[in-house]
Amino acid sequence: MSGNIVLCGFMGSGKTTVGQVLAQKSGRRFFDLDQYIEQRQGKTISQIFADEGEQTFRRLETEAARELSSQKDLVIATGGGAVLREENVDILRQNGVIVLLDASLDTLERRLDGVSDRPLLQRDDRQEFLRALYAKRMPLYRTVAQLCVDADHDPDTVSEQILQKAELFFGENT
Ligand code: S3P
Repeated sequence: MSGNIVLCGFMGSGKTTVGQVLAQKSGRRFFDLDQYIEQRQGKTISQIFADEGEQTFRRLETEAARELSSQKDLVIATGGGAVLREENVDILRQNGVIVLLDASLDTLERRLDGVSDRPLLQRDDRQEFLRALYAKRMPLYRTVAQLCVDADHDPDTVSEQILQKAELFFGENT
């Protein structure tokens, strides 16, 4: 064991929840990129968006990805926009494998219903926006991810699938 397992996917796909279970199962340490940024900045992601704007948040996200990727044996849950920047993909792949948590639009709509801590979703046309963003981002996630798992299942099942695929991947790539 040494490679990092990096979880990507849409908001609500379960990256943080699955990541914690996966870390436990695989003996890796867990880091959530958003939580890491919040701790460093002493502010929530919503506050960073409101006070400093999305661009500043994206810069902090790249810095955090760089810091964490210099370590080994981690499970890293990224934010839904992190792997949409090519620079971040290069950084995160250096020491790890990028895994897509592929959740259906139905599942995401259900999980994100009533959730208020995602600044991108604080808008009147939330449902239309979510659908359009899903259609735009999913093909990009599929392009950057080296592995993909069905994330409509419970965290235990999803993390087992990831573990199997990641072990095969690292076995073949080391
Ligand atoms: C974002 C997703 C969020 C967080 C920020 C931006 C995005 O993370 O990084 O609100 O661009 O999709 P989650 O995917 O953990 O919700």
